[in-house]
Amino acid sequence: MATRLGLAVVILVVLAALLQTTVAQKTHVVGDNLGWLVPPGGPVAYTTWAAMQTFTVGDILVFNFTTGNQDVARVLTKEAFDTCNSTSPMWLETTGPANFTLSSVGEYYFICTMDRHCPLGQKLAINVTGSSGPAPPPVPAPPRAPVTYVVGDKLGWLVPPGGAIAYATWASNKTFIVGDTLVFDFVNGTQDVAVVTKSAYKTCDTNNTITVLTNSPAKITLTTTGEHYFTCTYPRHCTLGQQLAINVTASSTATPPSSSTTPPTGTTTASSPANAPTAGGPISPPASSAPFRGVVGFYVTFLSIVVAFLFN
Ligand SMILES: *[C@@H]1O[C@H](CO)[C@@H](O)[C@H](O)[C@H]1NC(C)=O
Ligand SMILES: *[C@@H]1O[C@H](CO)[C@@H](O)[C@H](O)[C@H]1NC(C)=O
Ligand SMILES: *[C@@H]1O[C@H](CO)[C@@H](O)[C@H](O)[C@H]1NC(C)=O
Ligand SMILES: *[C@@H]1O[C@H](CO)[C@@H](O)[C@H](O)[C@H]1NC(C)=O
Ligand SMILES: *[C@@H]1O[C@H](CO)[C@@H](O)[C@H](O)[C@H]1NC(C)=O
Ligand SMILES: *[C@@H]1O[C@H](CO)[C@@H](O)[C@H](O)[C@H]1NC(C)=O
Ligand SMILES: *[C@@H]1O[C@H](CO)[C@@H](O)[C@H](O)[C@H]1NC(C)=O
Ligand SMILES: *[C@@H]1O[C@H](CO)[C@@H](O)[C@H](O)[C@H]1NC(C)=O
Repeated sequence: MATRLGLAVVILVVLAALLQTTVAQKTHVVGDNLGWLVPPGGPVAYTTWAAMQTFTVGDILVFNFTTGNQDVARVLTKEAFDTCNSTSPMWLETTGPANFTLSSVGEYYFICTMDRHCPLGQKLAINVTGSSGPAPPPVPAPPRAPVTYVVGDKLGWLVPPGGAIAYATWASNKTFIVGDTLVFDFVNGTQDVAVVTKSAYKTCDTNNTITVLTNSPAKITLTTTGEHYFTCTYPRHCTLGQQLAINVTASSTATPPSSSTTPPTGTTTASSPANAPTAGGPISPPASSAPFRGVVGFYVTFLSIVVAFLFN
């Protein structure tokens, strides 16, 4: 009897801890009552606000602004944030209020792209930490960190022995997002990299190129979504198969991470002591993408069964 009771208590404690971490998702209204605008006192307003918050994976930011007066963009790099460069934002929302779910660990940078709003202080940098507890919340496919791809891997960039299939195969199991970089490795003077249109790609028309890069290694950062085409201008190289077509998706859209070559840089191993469960046993929570309420409901039901059992 005593062992059964003891076991039940342990289960209860563990489940209570799980429940607590499962419901920990928070909504942060950026700037609180100030909302999202050019702050009267300059950038310090959002710096101060951010310093008072703790951001955890799964939390939601609400940018409360008036459509037409403001917008909100997420930029990739600290440099873009510091210089207020909104050339290729990872995410842009022009309708307010706008929600943004923090889906992975790391730094996030938001600015307003309008006029001089950002230089005047309408900018927010935050640091997101891993969710505490053993059950990471079911988040939508996280936008991953940028990846550098070496085209063809060890093959490099040349006329592939097996023909065009080589680069098609290479690209087929990869996901390309805005911010990724392609590196073309070749021997100077024997190949080049031509950025071309779809029709020039299809007809191997090397007279019409958008750009030609002649120095190896040639690095191209993908700054726009859509299809991108590359060939070589040396005679017959393209027709013999030195051609690459890729499809770039926006980083903030939920493209399922089909591959594992590109793990997110931050893995959520950190536990914040504030609400980490003390009895974190080898519990395998249901690997579910079920909505939060479903998960919570499950634990609540389970909990009441245990309680009923305990007091019988
Ligand atoms: C957004 O701002 C409006 C106007 O200031 C206010 O009425 C509303 O409550 C705010 N919404 C949130 C979620 O704070
Ligand atoms: C802004 O960023 C883009 C690439 O994202 C870059 O090409 C451009 O030079 C940058 N502009 C400034 C002013 O730094
Ligand atoms: C944004 O988040 C708030 C708070 O979680 C929620 O009430 C609202 O419905 C969300 N809006 C959208 C458009 O998802
Ligand atoms: C985020 O945290 C890292 C490491 O703790 C730190 O180096 C970085 O400055 C922080 N970034 C921001 C925007 O606070
Ligand atoms: C490219 O230009 C050369 C010489 O100007 C010409 O002979 C050739 O037909 C052109 N190729 C295409 C595909 O237009
Ligand atoms: C190709 O030429 C550039 C410029 O001359 C040089 O910087 C680079 O190292 C060369 N690359 C190779 C692989 O030789
Ligand atoms: C690229 O992606 C878009 C949107 O997902 C799709 O419509 C298009 O067919 C894709 N192109 C190729 C070549 O796969
Ligand atoms: C892509 O395919 C190649 C060759 O089949 C394989 O070596 C590589 O591991 C694959 N990459 C991923 C991310 O699946």
